[in-house]
Amino acid sequence: MSEASEVKDTAFERLGGEAAVRALVDRFYDLMDLDSAYRGLRALHPTHLEGSRDKLFWFLCGWLGGPSHYIERFGHPMLRARHLPFAIGIAERDQWMACMKQAMAELEIDTTLAERLAAALFNTADWMRNRGV
Ligand code: HEM
Repeated sequence: MSEASEVKDTAFERLGGEAAVRALVDRFYDLMDLDSAYRGLRALHPTHLEGSRDKLFWFLCGWLGGPSHYIERFGHPMLRARHLPFAIGIAERDQWMACMKQAMAELEIDTTLAERLAAALFNTADWMRNRGV
């Protein structure tokens, strides 16, 4: 692979584009809905998860270096501000990360890519914390 094409290569492309991001988000919310380990995280979300699925899908496409679906619809993500209505501490952060890691593992995303994404997502999830514990 040439240097120029490496520069263009994004995590979005490496993951497999929109269909793969959608599958990851769907598995993430299916697990949140079904697995009692994520009960606390699920309880923060609305009864129906369709809107949450769409928003995370649109956001992650752009965050991974793909199309800016979220920004086109809602403007700047302001993620921390948008999470302020929800009490997010260490337990909520860790449940979010565990749920996402489980979804990535079940979809058999390349281990190196999954580890890199998990490290970057952890920083975002940790930044969302708005209470100490
Ligand atoms: C740290 C633990 C987290 C918790 C407990 C949490 C919880 C929530 C909740 C309850 C909502 C509202 C759902 C809805 O309106 O349907 C939400 C929205 C959202 N979350 Fe999170 N979240 C967390 C981390 C993250 C992370 C790490 C990301 C991105 C990588 C993310 C991206 C989003 C997006 C894009 C929205 C939609 C915002 C909007 O337009 O209203 N969240 N989150």
